[in-house]
Amino acid sequence: MRAHNRAATIALEDIDVSDPELWRTDSHWPYFERLRAEDPVHFCRDSQFGPYWSVTKFNDIMAVDTNHAVFSSDIGLGGITILDDDPKDALPMFIAMDPPKHDHQRKVVAPIVGPGNLAKMEGLIRSRAAAILDELPVGETFDWVERVSIELTTQMLATLFDFPFEDRHKLTYWSDVVTTLAAPGEIVETVEEQNAILMECLEYFVRLWNERVNEEPASDLISMLAHGESTRHMTPKEYLGNIILLIVGGNDTTRNTMTGSVLALNQNPDQYQKLRDHPELIPSMVSETIRWQTPLAHMRRTATCDTELGGKKIAKDDKVIMWYVSGNRDETVIDRPNDYIIDRERPRQHLSFGFGIHRCVGNRLAEMQLRIVWEEILKRYPTIEVVGEPVRPATPFVKGYQSLPVRIPASA
Ligand code: HEM
Repeated sequence: MRAHNRAATIALEDIDVSDPELWRTDSHWPYFERLRAEDPVHFCRDSQFGPYWSVTKFNDIMAVDTNHAVFSSDIGLGGITILDDDPKDALPMFIAMDPPKHDHQRKVVAPIVGPGNLAKMEGLIRSRAAAILDELPVGETFDWVERVSIELTTQMLATLFDFPFEDRHKLTYWSDVVTTLAAPGEIVETVEEQNAILMECLEYFVRLWNERVNEEPASDLISMLAHGESTRHMTPKEYLGNIILLIVGGNDTTRNTMTGSVLALNQNPDQYQKLRDHPELIPSMVSETIRWQTPLAHMRRTATCDTELGGKKIAKDDKVIMWYVSGNRDETVIDRPNDYIIDRERPRQHLSFGFGIHRCVGNRLAEMQLRIVWEEILKRYPTIEVVGEPVRPATPFVKGYQSLPVRIPASA
């Protein structure tokens, strides 16, 4: 309520939706609602991330996302999130490149998530999901994030890389290390420590590369990179960058959707019942959750020239934030956008995977993983009950959960 009052009365020019506290407390919604209504392309002069533009409506976001010549992802201009990357330290990866290099590297990894490969992976993903779900402690409170979302996502990543299964937790650890801002009390305290851990990661993956480059091409990601025409001559730094991109890309996002689905169904018991009655709705429930959750709240671009958007003059080098989280609640494009409706007519009409040349490579894979998990959950447990508040991280980028206490009723 307090957030609503403040959002309604604060001067427009003082609105700063990047404030990490708004994200920790889940109170950014009324600010975006106001911006969409009164100032859809909004300039914030002063924030802890410096000045930036907010693009808040569905169609304006599409316009930015599909115009990579004017709105660049290049790491040299600052990168792809609101926090400016230092090009000196940043790892090169194709998500933070413009054409033509982006296109060449993307083409190499795209087949991993082609329909044939997905079908091959389905059985393994299902058996791993089943094993995790069978082990859950019925009748006790436990953390869904730790026991299910993290474990499942880690196992799936290991499957994608054909990574030694017993070492799979290293993947999540490296992902966490790279996405942490080094500071006292964090899992890495200094940039030196962070770089040393990344070097261990590189050594591990170089070993796997050296094994696979001498074998027949296979359908795991490392083999694909080692044999791919545009990637086999990558520098070690580029190899590491792309490995990290694949680890991070598929990690937090899928993990947080898995947690978000349990939370959304609990907040909307009529929809949960509809799902139990009609399990064939699982695929559209998955898409609706990806929209409702919006696991990456924004992506950033940098203007390569003076331009105009929504009647506002954006200058060369300005930072432009596409708030997918807001576009996904744009009432002029999506019917009843604040409601969670698992049988929407067009459930894949959302911005959560981005649009244009950087549209998520892994979108079909993410959907498949989530579908399988829910098919296996419903076979075993009619109800996963949320029994406490979720803990959310204080960041305007990864929109997710650090923990979510749940209970599977003993009678379920
Ligand atoms: C790109 C979201 C799952 C790999 C992206 C982008 C978004 C996104 C918004 C666009 C970035 C941009 O425009 O700058 C999501 C969400 C997921 C998910 C919401 C789950 C629900 C995955 C998975 C993988 C993956 C499972 C692993 C294979 C990538 C890669 C890119 C990307 C490699 C870069 C594409 C490029 O730059 O051309 N993702 N992602 N993502 N995603 Fe995902």
